[in-house]
Amino acid sequence: MTFTELLERRAIKKLAAIWIVIGLLIWSAACASAQPPVTEVVETLPAVEDETIDYLNPALSSEERAEDLLARMTLEEKLGQMTLIEKGSLVSGDIARYYLGGVLSGGGGYPAGYNSPDGWRDMVVEFQAEALDTRLGIPIIYGVDAVHGHNDVKGAVIFPHNIGLGAAANPALVEQIGEITALETSATAIKWNYAPVLAVVQDIRWGRTYESYGEDPELVGMLGEAYIRGLQGEDLSSPTSVAATAKHFVGDGGTIWGTSTTANYMIDQGDTIVDEETLREIHLAPYYPALEAGAKIVMISFSSWNGEKMHGHDYLINTVLKGEMGFDGFVVSDWQGIDQVADNFYDAVVQSVNAGVDMNMVPYNANLFIFSLQSAVENGDITEERINDAVRRILTVKFIMGLFEDPNLESLDTSIVGSAEHRAVAQEAVSQSLVLLQNENAALPIDKNATVFVAGVDADDIGVQCGGWTIEWQGRSGYITTGTTIVEGLEQIGGENVYYNRFGKFEQFGQQGDVGIVVIGESPYAEGVGDSDDLELSETDIALIERMRPQVDKLVIVLVSGRPLIITEQLPLADAWVAAWLPGTEGQGVASNLYGEHPFTGKLPVSWPRSIDQLPLNETGADPLFAFGYGLEID
Ligand code: GLC
Repeated sequence: MTFTELLERRAIKKLAAIWIVIGLLIWSAACASAQPPVTEVVETLPAVEDETIDYLNPALSSEERAEDLLARMTLEEKLGQMTLIEKGSLVSGDIARYYLGGVLSGGGGYPAGYNSPDGWRDMVVEFQAEALDTRLGIPIIYGVDAVHGHNDVKGAVIFPHNIGLGAAANPALVEQIGEITALETSATAIKWNYAPVLAVVQDIRWGRTYESYGEDPELVGMLGEAYIRGLQGEDLSSPTSVAATAKHFVGDGGTIWGTSTTANYMIDQGDTIVDEETLREIHLAPYYPALEAGAKIVMISFSSWNGEKMHGHDYLINTVLKGEMGFDGFVVSDWQGIDQVADNFYDAVVQSVNAGVDMNMVPYNANLFIFSLQSAVENGDITEERINDAVRRILTVKFIMGLFEDPNLESLDTSIVGSAEHRAVAQEAVSQSLVLLQNENAALPIDKNATVFVAGVDADDIGVQCGGWTIEWQGRSGYITTGTTIVEGLEQIGGENVYYNRFGKFEQFGQQGDVGIVVIGESPYAEGVGDSDDLELSETDIALIERMRPQVDKLVIVLVSGRPLIITEQLPLADAWVAAWLPGTEGQGVASNLYGEHPFTGKLPVSWPRSIDQLPLNETGADPLFAFGYGLEID
């Protein structure tokens, strides 16, 4: 809906109200014949077009418009703006009832029963219509985790997860990925993306290792900045610009194994135990380029710093982020992140809002949160000034994003989602992300006429290639969305010379294969569900490698995983080893490198340990199997 249409709609509503008033006056005059006639002419209400409603005037600055709107809001409307609810928790009317500021799709939060780009657009536009129908017509901001493409949407192109992009270490490519992600996300009427992760992973036992660009703050800062520039473009109010979220502030990648207190997690949401200098040097560093790139939203980390939960950390949020770093956007909590701050919810709300959390990803119970917030204001535990500060920040960002002028991104359509052009970029990203760890016996590149035996269930599984945060929160193996598996990519190049048997049974061919390719790795996981100190290859995978060895002349192992795995003992079993990370939907990118159509250029974004007890490497100082920055090339 455009600003003009919005005004017209308002004019119609106002005119309707005027006729009702006039009708009532005529009716009451007719009924009150005994009373003296109305002596004064009822003033005619000013025509809407004469009234300047500043917050609806795009000629004014976002700050001026926010100030005008804030002054018009009731406390109830303000508290609603600070509330972010997961769409699955809403019943019809809730957005208007609570004047909600934001709605999100949590991981896998696709429209019930109809996961398609159009299904997503219809769902978001319907939620938005409710918000626009409130007294002040403040649009919601709808958020989603499009962390490696618009990954919850069936048919969207899925890029390599960040660890693979860290291996590619190509900011121009990452910026392009940001642009494409924005195109596919905004096409579904969504303008808020909970990405990029700026974690600087220090211990690969962490289930979110693959969401990090790597262990080096410079690398993470460079790629995070590039992604934000691509996602947001030059002007956040452009229909195809999507607001980034720099996350998770701060120190999410530095937690210590065994310190997590969440569910059965071991390191995710744990405690980052470092001095302030180290926190700043490693974990805070990437936020400077991110803010420089124009990030207007920062999400707080579940983790703690030296035992204090980040969601309640007044010094790091208020003093450092908003004060010292001059962050003028808004801070959003993570999923029930404020709940972890104190034993009871009321204290948790007070502490986190006073620490600087502006919008709260509640995400279930709007009523309880708003009631707690209102009580805190009435008790003086949270000042109206703090509420106004939070709401001013949120509204200013909404005005900067152009949400009032074009809340449904009317000019866009979903035809570009998953386009061949976008998939070509994703394939290039896959090729640049691969790291060649070993290449003996000139195993690679493979000759197109060679007889190739391919084994491993992971060679033909889109879900495994994509990993977590794909269609479902945890991801899922199987044909979960449109794409090309690794073996399909090999068949596209090698044609009839490529034979696939997931169990590695090629004895019936009665001949040696020239080259064997075994694709093994990790099943999909997300967040703390992926915390693990058992990163050895499985017995099944080792048996498959051993089975393939005698059947082929040269043996190549392709690892599809969210992090380095412990392969030290198995290394001599094969001639070549390739780290493919979590490549996403374009598995043909792997085949392209194996056949030498694209060079291996990727370098390790994280150190590759010899054994688990070397972790965390920066603590033990042990020498890894392969160092950060390692990666072979083929002349
Ligand atoms: C999750 C993640 C965060 C994500 C949010 C919304 O728990 O920690 O990265 O953006 O919830 O899905």
